[in-house]
Amino acid sequence: MSAKRVNVAIIGAGLMGREVAAAIQRWPALIDHPVRPRLTAVCDINESALDWFDEIDTVTTKVTDYKDLLSDASIDVIYVAVRHDLHERIYSDVIAAGKSLLAEKPFGIDQSAVEAILAAVEKHPESFVRCSSEMPFFPGAQMAINYVLSGALGTIVEARNSFLHASDIDRTKPIGWKRQNEFCGEAGVLNDLGMHTWHVPLRLGWAPESVYGVFQNIVQKRPDAEGSLVECDTWDNVTLHSWAHHEGVRFPLTTETKRIDPGEKNTWVFEASGLDGSVRFSTKNPKSVEIFAAADIPGHGREQVWQQIDSGSQSVWPTVTGPNFEFGFSDSILQMWASYLAEREGLLGERFGCVTPEQAAATHSIFRAGMDSLSRGTATKPL
Ligand SMILES: NC(=O)c1ccc[n+]([C@@H]2O[C@H](COP(=O)([O-])OP(=O)(O)OC[C@H]3O[C@@H](n4cnc5c(N)ncnc54)[C@H](O)[C@@H]3O)[C@@H](O)[C@H]2O)c1
Repeated sequence: MSAKRVNVAIIGAGLMGREVAAAIQRWPALIDHPVRPRLTAVCDINESALDWFDEIDTVTTKVTDYKDLLSDASIDVIYVAVRHDLHERIYSDVIAAGKSLLAEKPFGIDQSAVEAILAAVEKHPESFVRCSSEMPFFPGAQMAINYVLSGALGTIVEARNSFLHASDIDRTKPIGWKRQNEFCGEAGVLNDLGMHTWHVPLRLGWAPESVYGVFQNIVQKRPDAEGSLVECDTWDNVTLHSWAHHEGVRFPLTTETKRIDPGEKNTWVFEASGLDGSVRFSTKNPKSVEIFAAADIPGHGREQVWQQIDSGSQSVWPTVTGPNFEFGFSDSILQMWASYLAEREGLLGERFGCVTPEQAAATHSIFRAGMDSLSRGTATKPL
Protein backbone atom coordinates (compact mmCIF):
# COMPACT_ATOMS: atom_id res chain seq x y z
CA MET A 1 0.00 0.00 0.00
CA SER A 2 1.35 3.46 -0.76
CA ALA A 3 0.96 5.57 2.36
CA LYS A 4 -0.13 9.21 2.24
CA ARG A 5 2.57 11.67 3.33
CA VAL A 6 1.46 13.96 6.18
CA ASN A 7 3.73 16.67 7.57
CA VAL A 8 3.54 17.07 11.34
CA ALA A 9 4.66 19.97 13.53
CA ILE A 10 4.96 20.14 17.31
CA ILE A 11 4.25 23.19 19.47
CA GLY A 12 5.81 22.75 22.91
CA ALA A 13 9.14 20.90 22.94
CA GLY A 14 8.98 19.74 26.55
CA LEU A 15 8.25 16.34 28.09
CA MET A 16 5.42 15.37 25.74
CA GLY A 17 6.72 17.17 22.66
CA ARG A 18 9.85 15.01 22.78
CA GLU A 19 7.87 11.85 23.57
CA VAL A 20 5.67 12.31 20.51
CA ALA A 21 8.62 13.22 18.30
CA ALA A 22 10.33 9.98 19.33
CA ALA A 23 7.17 7.91 18.79
CA ILE A 24 6.78 9.18 15.23
CA GLN A 25 10.33 7.96 14.46
CA ARG A 26 9.10 4.41 15.20
CA TRP A 27 6.33 4.63 12.58
CA PRO A 28 7.78 1.87 10.34
CA ALA A 29 6.87 -0.57 13.14
CA LEU A 30 3.21 -0.19 12.05
CA ILE A 31 2.05 -2.63 9.37
CA ASP A 32 0.13 -1.26 6.35
CA HIS A 33 -0.80 2.07 7.89
CA PRO A 34 -2.43 4.37 5.31
CA VAL A 35 -0.41 7.41 6.44
CA ARG A 36 3.32 8.11 6.66
CA PRO A 37 3.85 11.11 8.98
CA ARG A 38 7.03 13.13 8.81
CA LEU A 39 7.96 15.47 11.66
CA THR A 40 9.14 18.59 9.85
CA ALA A 41 8.76 21.48 12.30
CA VAL A 42 8.90 22.32 15.98
CA CYS A 43 8.22 25.41 18.05
CA ASP A 44 9.10 26.38 21.60
CA ILE A 45 9.48 29.81 23.18
CA ASN A 46 12.57 28.41 24.88
CA GLU A 47 15.13 28.20 22.06
CA SER A 48 17.36 25.74 23.88
CA ALA A 49 14.46 23.23 24.06
CA LEU A 50 14.68 23.02 20.27
CA ASP A 51 18.24 21.64 20.28
CA TRP A 52 17.11 18.10 21.08
CA PHE A 53 15.26 18.04 17.73
CA ASP A 54 18.60 18.20 15.89
CA GLU A 55 18.57 14.42 16.41
CA ILE A 56 15.69 14.11 13.95
CA ASP A 57 16.84 14.82 10.41
CA THR A 58 13.33 15.40 8.97
CA VAL A 59 12.95 18.51 11.18
CA THR A 60 13.82 21.43 8.94
CA THR A 61 11.94 24.23 10.70
CA LYS A 62 12.58 25.37 14.26
CA VAL A 63 10.79 28.50 15.46
CA THR A 64 9.99 30.33 18.70
CA ASP A 65 6.67 31.84 17.56
CA TYR A 66 3.98 29.24 16.78
CA LYS A 67 2.26 31.64 14.35
CA ASP A 68 5.16 30.96 11.95
CA LEU A 69 3.95 27.34 11.76
CA LEU A 70 0.35 28.37 11.14
CA SER A 71 1.32 30.30 8.01
CA ASP A 72 3.46 27.39 6.70
CA ALA A 73 1.40 25.72 3.96
CA SER A 74 3.53 22.54 4.05
CA ILE A 75 2.30 21.60 7.57
CA ASP A 76 -0.81 19.39 7.76
CA VAL A 77 -1.09 18.35 11.42
CA ILE A 78 0.03 20.08 14.62
CA TYR A 79 0.49 18.43 18.01
CA VAL A 80 0.33 20.98 20.84
CA ALA A 81 1.81 20.17 24.27
CA VAL A 82 1.91 23.35 26.36
CA ARG A 83 0.68 24.66 29.74
CA HIS A 84 -3.07 24.44 30.29
CA ASP A 85 -3.59 28.22 30.43
CA LEU A 86 -2.25 28.39 26.82
CA HIS A 87 -4.55 25.72 25.36
CA GLU A 88 -7.49 27.97 24.45
CA ARG A 89 -5.43 30.52 22.50
CA ILE A 90 -3.07 28.11 20.71
CA TYR A 91 -5.65 25.38 19.94
CA SER A 92 -8.12 27.98 18.60
CA ASP A 93 -5.42 29.54 16.41
CA VAL A 94 -4.29 26.15 15.05
CA ILE A 95 -7.88 25.22 14.21
CA ALA A 96 -8.63 28.63 12.64
CA ALA A 97 -5.53 28.20 10.45
CA GLY A 98 -7.16 25.03 9.04
CA LYS A 99 -4.45 22.73 10.41
CA SER A 100 -5.47 19.44 11.97
CA LEU A 101 -4.84 19.29 15.72
CA LEU A 102 -3.94 16.55 18.14
CA ALA A 103 -4.35 18.48 21.37
CA GLU A 104 -3.19 17.63 24.83
CA LYS A 105 -5.47 17.22 27.81
CA PRO A 106 -7.25 18.80 29.56
CA PHE A 107 -8.25 20.52 26.26
CA GLY A 108 -8.53 23.98 27.82
CA ILE A 109 -7.95 25.09 31.37
CA ASP A 110 -11.66 25.15 32.27
CA GLN A 111 -15.19 24.98 30.90
CA SER A 112 -15.17 28.42 29.30
CA ALA A 113 -11.90 27.58 27.51
CA VAL A 114 -13.24 24.27 26.22
CA GLU A 115 -16.37 26.02 24.95
CA ALA A 116 -14.23 28.50 23.01
CA ILE A 117 -12.21 25.63 21.50
CA LEU A 118 -15.42 23.78 20.60
CA ALA A 119 -16.72 26.91 18.86
CA ALA A 120 -13.53 26.97 16.75
CA VAL A 121 -13.96 23.26 15.93
CA GLU A 122 -17.54 23.87 14.76
CA LYS A 123 -16.48 26.84 12.66
CA HIS A 124 -13.60 24.99 10.96
CA PRO A 125 -14.70 21.46 10.01
CA GLU A 126 -11.63 21.25 7.73
CA SER A 127 -9.50 20.93 10.88
CA PHE A 128 -9.58 17.36 12.25
CA VAL A 129 -9.34 17.68 16.03
CA ARG A 130 -8.84 15.04 18.70
CA CYS A 131 -7.37 15.02 22.21
CA SER A 132 -4.57 12.87 23.57
CA SER A 133 -5.30 9.96 25.95
CA GLU A 134 -2.99 7.06 25.28
CA MET A 135 -3.46 4.64 28.18
CA PRO A 136 -6.52 2.86 26.68
CA PHE A 137 -4.27 1.81 23.79
CA PHE A 138 -2.48 -0.71 26.03
CA PRO A 139 -3.51 -4.14 24.67
CA GLY A 140 -4.77 -5.13 28.13
CA ALA A 141 -6.98 -2.05 28.25
CA GLN A 142 -8.32 -2.85 24.77
CA MET A 143 -9.10 -6.38 25.93
CA ALA A 144 -10.93 -5.04 29.00
CA ILE A 145 -12.93 -2.55 26.90
CA ASN A 146 -13.90 -5.25 24.39
CA TYR A 147 -14.88 -7.55 27.24
CA VAL A 148 -17.33 -4.93 28.57
CA LEU A 149 -18.64 -4.17 25.07
CA SER A 150 -19.29 -7.89 24.49
CA GLY A 151 -21.95 -7.84 27.23
CA ALA A 152 -19.96 -10.36 29.32
CA LEU A 153 -20.54 -8.43 32.58
CA GLY A 154 -24.24 -9.25 32.61
CA THR A 155 -25.89 -7.03 35.22
CA ILE A 156 -23.20 -4.53 36.14
CA VAL A 157 -22.19 -4.17 39.81
CA GLU A 158 -19.62 -1.36 39.74
CA ALA A 159 -16.68 0.11 37.79
CA ARG A 160 -13.52 2.06 38.54
CA ASN A 161 -10.95 3.90 36.42
CA SER A 162 -7.90 5.36 38.15
CA PHE A 163 -4.68 7.16 37.29
CA LEU A 164 -2.16 7.13 40.10
CA HIS A 165 1.17 8.83 40.68
CA ALA A 166 3.39 9.30 43.72
CA SER A 167 6.28 11.60 42.80
CA ASP A 168 4.60 14.50 44.66
CA ILE A 169 5.10 12.61 47.90
CA ASP A 170 8.49 14.37 47.83
CA ARG A 171 7.79 17.72 49.55
CA THR A 172 11.05 19.14 48.17
CA LYS A 173 9.93 18.68 44.55
CA PRO A 174 9.85 22.18 43.00
CA ILE A 175 6.43 23.66 42.36
CA GLY A 176 6.44 23.96 38.48
CA TRP A 177 3.42 25.08 36.44
CA LYS A 178 1.46 21.87 36.99
CA ARG A 179 1.15 22.65 40.73
CA GLN A 180 -0.32 26.17 40.37
CA ASN A 181 -4.00 26.89 39.70
CA GLU A 182 -3.06 29.85 37.55
CA PHE A 183 -1.40 27.58 34.95
CA CYS A 184 -2.84 24.11 35.66
CA GLY A 185 -6.43 25.20 36.41
CA GLU A 186 -8.80 25.25 39.33
CA ALA A 187 -9.54 21.54 38.86
CA GLY A 188 -5.90 20.72 39.78
CA VAL A 189 -5.08 17.04 39.42
CA LEU A 190 -8.37 16.52 37.54
CA ASN A 191 -6.98 18.72 34.77
CA ASP A 192 -3.74 16.75 34.86
CA LEU A 193 -4.99 13.17 35.05
CA GLY A 194 -8.78 13.31 34.73
CA MET A 195 -8.95 12.80 30.95
CA HIS A 196 -7.14 9.50 31.41
CA THR A 197 -9.87 8.29 33.78
CA TRP A 198 -12.89 9.43 31.75
CA HIS A 199 -11.92 8.50 28.19
CA VAL A 200 -12.97 4.86 28.54
CA PRO A 201 -16.08 5.45 30.71
CA LEU A 202 -17.36 8.04 28.23
CA ARG A 203 -16.56 5.73 25.30
CA LEU A 204 -18.57 2.99 27.01
CA GLY A 205 -21.54 5.38 27.33
CA TRP A 206 -21.07 5.86 31.08
CA ALA A 207 -21.64 9.64 31.23
CA PRO A 208 -22.42 10.13 34.93
CA GLU A 209 -25.84 11.39 36.07
CA SER A 210 -24.34 12.77 39.31
CA VAL A 211 -20.90 13.31 40.78
CA TYR A 212 -19.59 13.68 44.32
CA GLY A 213 -15.96 14.70 44.68
CA VAL A 214 -13.49 14.04 47.49
CA PHE A 215 -10.70 16.64 47.12
CA GLN A 216 -7.37 16.80 48.96
CA ASN A 217 -4.64 19.45 48.85
CA ILE A 218 -2.04 17.54 50.82
CA VAL A 219 1.20 19.46 50.18
CA GLN A 220 0.29 23.14 50.44
CA LYS A 221 3.73 24.70 50.02
CA ARG A 222 6.60 23.78 47.69
CA PRO A 223 9.97 25.32 46.84
CA ASP A 224 10.10 27.61 43.81
CA ALA A 225 13.08 27.82 41.43
CA GLU A 226 15.03 29.84 44.04
CA GLY A 227 14.22 27.39 46.84
CA SER A 228 11.75 29.66 48.71
CA LEU A 229 8.57 27.97 49.91
CA VAL A 230 5.54 29.24 47.96
CA GLU A 231 1.86 28.35 47.99
CA CYS A 232 0.97 25.14 46.14
CA ASP A 233 -2.75 25.68 45.61
CA THR A 234 -3.73 22.78 43.33
CA TRP A 235 -5.70 19.69 44.37
CA ASP A 236 -3.30 16.75 44.77
CA ASN A 237 -5.79 13.89 44.94
CA VAL A 238 -9.41 13.77 43.79
CA THR A 239 -11.81 10.83 43.83
CA LEU A 240 -15.09 11.31 41.97
CA HIS A 241 -17.92 9.03 43.09
CA SER A 242 -20.63 8.98 40.48
CA TRP A 243 -23.72 7.16 39.29
CA ALA A 244 -23.80 5.98 35.70
CA HIS A 245 -25.88 3.53 33.63
CA HIS A 246 -24.86 0.37 31.78
CA GLU A 247 -27.50 -1.44 29.70
CA GLY A 248 -30.26 0.23 31.71
CA VAL A 249 -28.78 -0.58 35.14
CA ARG A 250 -27.61 2.23 37.45
CA PHE A 251 -24.22 1.54 39.00
CA PRO A 252 -21.48 3.26 41.05
CA LEU A 253 -18.62 4.50 38.87
CA THR A 254 -15.52 5.75 40.66
CA THR A 255 -12.63 7.63 39.10
CA GLU A 256 -9.46 8.36 41.05
CA THR A 257 -6.80 10.89 40.06
CA LYS A 258 -3.91 11.00 42.51
CA ARG A 259 -0.53 12.68 42.51
CA ILE A 260 0.19 11.21 45.92
CA ASP A 261 -0.57 7.50 46.03
CA PRO A 262 2.49 5.93 47.67
CA GLY A 263 4.43 3.66 45.34
CA GLU A 264 2.55 4.41 42.12
CA LYS A 265 4.27 5.54 38.91
CA ASN A 266 1.77 6.33 36.14
CA THR A 267 -0.54 3.46 37.12
CA TRP A 268 -3.74 3.34 35.04
CA VAL A 269 -6.36 0.94 36.35
CA PHE A 270 -9.66 -0.13 34.83
CA GLU A 271 -12.03 -2.52 36.59
CA ALA A 272 -15.63 -3.44 35.92
CA SER A 273 -17.57 -6.11 37.74
CA GLY A 274 -20.89 -7.76 36.93
CA LEU A 275 -23.01 -10.72 37.98
CA ASP A 276 -21.89 -12.81 35.00
CA GLY A 277 -18.33 -11.62 34.54
CA SER A 278 -15.72 -9.09 35.68
CA VAL A 279 -12.53 -7.68 34.23
CA ARG A 280 -9.55 -5.77 35.57
CA PHE A 281 -6.40 -4.34 34.03
CA SER A 282 -3.61 -2.22 35.50
CA THR A 283 -0.49 -0.86 33.82
CA LYS A 284 1.31 -1.94 37.02
CA ASN A 285 1.24 -5.44 35.48
CA PRO A 286 1.04 -4.32 31.86
CA LYS A 287 0.85 -7.80 30.33
CA SER A 288 -1.85 -9.13 32.57
CA VAL A 289 -5.62 -8.91 32.15
CA GLU A 290 -7.80 -10.61 34.71
CA ILE A 291 -11.21 -12.04 33.90
CA PHE A 292 -13.63 -13.36 36.48
CA ALA A 293 -16.02 -16.18 35.77
CA ALA A 294 -17.67 -19.04 37.56
CA ALA A 295 -16.21 -22.45 36.72
CA ASP A 296 -17.34 -26.02 37.42
CA ILE A 297 -14.49 -27.75 39.28
CA PRO A 298 -14.86 -31.55 39.49
CA GLY A 299 -15.49 -32.55 43.11
CA HIS A 300 -16.06 -28.94 44.25
CA GLY A 301 -19.04 -27.75 42.23
CA ARG A 302 -19.31 -24.21 40.99
CA GLU A 303 -16.37 -22.01 42.07
CA GLN A 304 -15.53 -18.34 41.57
CA VAL A 305 -12.29 -17.94 39.58
CA TRP A 306 -10.09 -14.98 38.59
CA GLN A 307 -8.26 -16.02 35.44
CA GLN A 308 -5.16 -14.30 34.10
CA ILE A 309 -4.33 -13.66 30.44
CA ASP A 310 -1.02 -12.32 29.07
CA SER A 311 -2.17 -9.70 26.60
CA GLY A 312 0.93 -9.51 24.35
CA SER A 313 2.02 -6.60 22.17
CA GLN A 314 -0.78 -6.02 19.66
CA SER A 315 -3.13 -3.06 20.12
CA VAL A 316 -5.33 -1.09 17.71
CA TRP A 317 -2.95 -1.10 14.75
CA PRO A 318 -0.81 -4.21 13.94
CA THR A 319 2.97 -3.88 14.33
CA VAL A 320 6.04 -5.88 13.38
CA THR A 321 6.63 -6.51 17.10
CA GLY A 322 6.27 -10.20 18.00
CA PRO A 323 2.76 -10.77 19.39
CA ASN A 324 4.14 -12.28 22.61
CA PHE A 325 6.45 -9.35 23.36
CA GLU A 326 5.67 -6.64 25.93
CA PHE A 327 3.98 -3.29 25.34
CA GLY A 328 4.87 0.04 27.04
CA PHE A 329 4.05 3.76 27.39
CA SER A 330 5.83 4.81 24.18
CA ASP A 331 3.97 2.06 22.28
CA SER A 332 0.69 3.53 23.52
CA ILE A 333 1.70 6.94 22.11
CA LEU A 334 2.49 5.33 18.73
CA GLN A 335 -0.85 3.50 18.72
CA MET A 336 -2.73 6.68 19.62
CA TRP A 337 -1.08 8.46 16.69
CA ALA A 338 -1.85 5.51 14.38
CA SER A 339 -5.48 5.82 15.41
CA TYR A 340 -5.55 9.62 15.05
CA LEU A 341 -4.00 9.71 11.57
CA ALA A 342 -6.12 6.78 10.31
CA GLU A 343 -9.30 8.46 11.56
CA ARG A 344 -8.23 11.72 9.93
CA GLU A 345 -8.23 9.82 6.60
CA GLY A 346 -11.62 8.23 7.38
CA LEU A 347 -9.91 4.82 7.59
CA LEU A 348 -10.14 3.94 11.28
CA GLY A 349 -13.13 1.63 10.81
CA GLU A 350 -14.27 -0.03 14.04
CA ARG A 351 -10.91 0.49 15.76
CA PHE A 352 -10.63 2.48 19.00
CA GLY A 353 -10.30 6.23 18.40
CA CYS A 354 -8.90 9.23 20.27
CA VAL A 355 -10.93 11.50 22.56
CA THR A 356 -13.32 13.70 20.54
CA PRO A 357 -13.72 17.42 21.30
CA GLU A 358 -17.23 16.67 22.65
CA GLN A 359 -15.87 14.02 25.03
CA ALA A 360 -13.15 16.42 26.16
CA ALA A 361 -15.85 19.02 26.86
CA ALA A 362 -17.82 16.41 28.83
CA THR A 363 -14.82 15.85 31.11
CA HIS A 364 -14.82 19.55 32.02
CA SER A 365 -18.56 19.36 32.90
CA ILE A 366 -17.78 16.37 35.12
CA PHE A 367 -14.86 18.18 36.81
CA ARG A 368 -17.08 21.26 37.32
CA ALA A 369 -19.79 19.09 38.89
CA GLY A 370 -17.15 17.55 41.15
CA MET A 371 -15.97 20.99 42.28
CA ASP A 372 -19.57 22.15 42.76
CA SER A 373 -20.25 19.09 44.91
CA LEU A 374 -17.36 20.18 47.09
CA SER A 375 -18.90 23.59 47.77
CA ARG A 376 -22.48 22.27 48.06
CA GLY A 377 -21.65 19.17 50.07
CA THR A 378 -23.94 17.08 47.88
CA ALA A 379 -23.72 15.07 44.67
CA THR A 380 -24.12 17.28 41.61
CA LYS A 381 -25.34 16.70 38.05
CA PRO A 382 -22.84 17.55 35.28
CA LEU A 383 -24.37 20.15 32.91
N1 LIG B 1 -0.73 12.46 27.58
C1 LIG B 1 0.08 12.38 28.62
O1 LIG B 1 0.34 11.31 29.13
C2 LIG B 1 0.67 13.63 29.17
C3 LIG B 1 1.76 13.57 30.06
C4 LIG B 1 2.29 14.79 30.52
C5 LIG B 1 1.74 16.00 30.13
N2 LIG B 1 0.67 16.00 29.27
C6 LIG B 1 0.07 17.27 28.82
O2 LIG B 1 0.93 17.82 27.82
C7 LIG B 1 0.94 19.25 27.91
C8 LIG B 1 2.36 19.73 28.13
O3 LIG B 1 2.90 19.08 29.25
P1 LIG B 1 4.46 18.78 29.35
O4 LIG B 1 4.62 17.87 30.51
O5 LIG B 1 5.00 18.38 28.03
O6 LIG B 1 4.96 20.24 29.73
P2 LIG B 1 6.44 20.83 29.72
O7 LIG B 1 6.45 21.95 30.70
O8 LIG B 1 7.46 19.73 29.86
O9 LIG B 1 6.61 21.41 28.24
C9 LIG B 1 5.88 22.51 27.78
C10 LIG B 1 6.75 23.24 26.76
O10 LIG B 1 5.96 24.28 26.18
C11 LIG B 1 6.83 25.38 25.94
N3 LIG B 1 6.01 26.59 25.73
C12 LIG B 1 5.45 27.40 26.64
N4 LIG B 1 4.77 28.40 26.02
C13 LIG B 1 4.89 28.19 24.69
C14 LIG B 1 4.42 28.87 23.53
N5 LIG B 1 3.66 29.95 23.62
N6 LIG B 1 4.75 28.38 22.32
C15 LIG B 1 5.52 27.26 22.21
N7 LIG B 1 6.01 26.57 23.28
C16 LIG B 1 5.69 27.03 24.49
C17 LIG B 1 7.70 25.42 27.19
O11 LIG B 1 8.88 26.20 26.98
C18 LIG B 1 7.98 23.94 27.39
O12 LIG B 1 9.15 23.52 26.72
C19 LIG B 1 -0.05 19.60 29.03
O13 LIG B 1 -1.30 19.85 28.48
C20 LIG B 1 -0.06 18.35 29.89
O14 LIG B 1 -1.26 18.17 30.62
C21 LIG B 1 0.16 14.87 28.78
